[in-house]
Amino acid sequence: MTSHSMEAHPSQVQLNKDGRLKHFLTTEGLSLEILTEILDTADSFIGTQNRSVKSVPLLRGKTVVNLFFENSTRTRSTFELAGKRLSADILNLDIARSATSKGETLMDTLWNLQSMYSDMFVVRHADSGAAHFIAQHVTPNVAVINAGDGRHAHPTQAMLDMLTIRREKGQFENLKVAIVGDILHSRVARSQIYALKTLGASEVRVIGPNTLLPPDIEQMGAKPYTNLQQGLKGVDVVIMLRLQKERMTNALLPSEAEFYRLYGLTTDKLKYAHPEAIVMHPGPINRGVEIESAVADGPQSVILKQVSNGIPLRMAVMAMAMSGQTQSTQNASANTAASPQEKPE
Ligand code: NCD
Repeated sequence: MTSHSMEAHPSQVQLNKDGRLKHFLTTEGLSLEILTEILDTADSFIGTQNRSVKSVPLLRGKTVVNLFFENSTRTRSTFELAGKRLSADILNLDIARSATSKGETLMDTLWNLQSMYSDMFVVRHADSGAAHFIAQHVTPNVAVINAGDGRHAHPTQAMLDMLTIRREKGQFENLKVAIVGDILHSRVARSQIYALKTLGASEVRVIGPNTLLPPDIEQMGAKPYTNLQQGLKGVDVVIMLRLQKERMTNALLPSEAEFYRLYGLTTDKLKYAHPEAIVMHPGPINRGVEIESAVADGPQSVILKQVSNGIPLRMAVMAMAMSGQTQSTQNASANTAASPQEKPE
């Protein structure tokens, strides 16, 4: 995917004329009101997840297509469950076996899926900007949800983390949060930093070796630390990240053993954080690489609660984007649909 500097920013593309969410592409630039509405809506769905009948009819008759161009376990399955619990019809496209591998372009695949009367695309792609690109090219009534694009953004992961933090800690005010490890390659960290700043966390720290800290991190509002013990001092939330070796092009690390010695979260190092600090991780966790098993499975860990919260959070975002689409379609009298006939790519 190429750069879209000439096109509208994703934070604008995802809102309809009334400022409501119609796609969900990034946490960057979203208002406190919208982020809070996402969390409140997700909270209201948590109740339904403990009932014997878990589904609600909000997306009945709608078709959601899961388009995962990159591997995923948690994100894909919780999106599928979220769609099912909203009563939508779900189509899981196995991209490895689809016509994209027969040379069909991304836009041709999408136009074909649109012709099947799809209402929502949930997209994961290895290229930064993929979901944004798709959102700008689908017909106006189709919602696009970013399930992770390159190292750019992973907004539903960030928001399920925010939901977990709010449920565990009650609020964001006066909260100190540290994100530890491979920040450079992490779409999760970027989306978390934007959300935490907007929601009012008092301090966001990032901890890692210089080679894994992005140069623009301070402009994003995060305080960089290269020493784990110093960075952890007094924090209320510790978010560990996986080393994204598949995204590392050159030797950014001395060795895994050295990384673990310096940045791996062990029971002893966790003592530097606030005694009631929670430990989070978006998964997949690598035991003994960034986190000790005793911490991952310990009393301060909320890693599996994050997974559970992924379902109501994704239900919330899907329901809100669908309703934002309905509003904008009702409001738009002139249809500006980008169909292949009108706008050849
Ligand atoms: C993350 C991702 O894919 O960006 N995982 C996830 O969505 N649960 C982080 C990772 O892969 O390390």
